Amino acid sequence: MTEMLTANTDTIEMAAKLLKNGEVVAFPTETVYGLGGVITTPSAIDKIFEAKGRPRDNPLIVHVSAKDQVVPLIKEFPKYAEVLMDKFWPGPLTLVMPASDLVLDCITAGLESVAIRMPDNSVALDLISATGVPVAAPSANRSGFPSPTKAGHVLEDMKGRIPLIIDGGATGFGLESTVLDLTEEVPTVLRPGAITLEMLWDAGVHAVLDSGLKPGETPKSPGLKYRHYAPNADVVIVMDKYELAKKLELCDNKEVGILAQSDWKPTNSSGLFYPLSTSGSVEESAALLFDGLRVLDGGGAKVIFVQGFEDNGLGMAYMNRLKKAAYKGEGKI
Ligand code: TXA
Ligand code: MG
Repeated sequence: MTEMLTANTDTIEMAAKLLKNGEVVAFPTETVYGLGGVITTPSAIDKIFEAKGRPRDNPLIVHVSAKDQVVPLIKEFPKYAEVLMDKFWPGPLTLVMPASDLVLDCITAGLESVAIRMPDNSVALDLISATGVPVAAPSANRSGFPSPTKAGHVLEDMKGRIPLIIDGGATGFGLESTVLDLTEEVPTVLRPGAITLEMLWDAGVHAVLDSGLKPGETPKSPGLKYRHYAPNADVVIVMDKYELAKKLELCDNKEVGILAQSDWKPTNSSGLFYPLSTSGSVEESAALLFDGLRVLDGGGAKVIFVQGFEDNGLGMAYMNRLKKAAYKGEGKI
């Protein structure tokens, strides 16, 4: 049975107890909900992979509640690590650093590096400190589906698979953290997120965006080779109201869903409409994107038209997720 309980001192204590006993628990962060297990118990890590249906070659992010928890997990601080931790932690920035021998292979998927972040969410921080051990946690969705931004999304995906979901309300950013690889000469963003390239540059770190895979190359971030964020419906990106109107004309309205700013709502369409924002802001839209995909999918839409944004700032993270949701191939991308 899966319990879903509102976050408070008692339920956080209960969750910490479960974690200490080698169980897994879903909890809110400022990005998306995570499914956590203590990093010291291989069977807890196994349960995470099992519950998610996650391929074992996709490593997990270790979540800490204090910077001093990082030291035993790494060989050394790579260049920029401490500057970035001081500036952006707690917050949506995951740092990939050389792993110490203490980090279990099942967490790193056998890589020599470990991804670590400190979430900016009091429930997550209180839970990790009450547990007393860092917590490995991927997003709490079934593998391949949109990440959960509400406790109810976790329940949809994990009912009967995990003992407890701590409900801390809707998450803030709505897209997963930026993953920054510090193990190479040039810091490389493996997954764009709310800490943007521009913000990293302003902090004096001249990071570049991972250019994607060349033929025959192994991905640096194993998670990136899998299909992601995908609802059952087909997803089509539309850049403006006129493109939307044109594409709608070609569809049978009954099975169409639209995910866009309020004033894009067509007057003559009988399709489902989910307002992503009132003003067309990318921040608002990012926070609601995954909920919108789930709602329209659940409402029976066969094609979902989704508002696109320019590929910079937070728009880069938003478009990264949206392009993956829209990808039509099976399995690997
Ligand atoms: O916002 C987030 O990061 C959320 C919340 C729960 O913290 N977590 C999350 O975890 O999105 P997950 O497992 O869904 O995504 C982790 C990503 C994957 O693409 C994985 O391949 C990559 O981080 N990753 C983990 N360890 C890595 C490593 N050592 N080297 C390169 N990439 C790594
Ligand atoms: Mg995920």
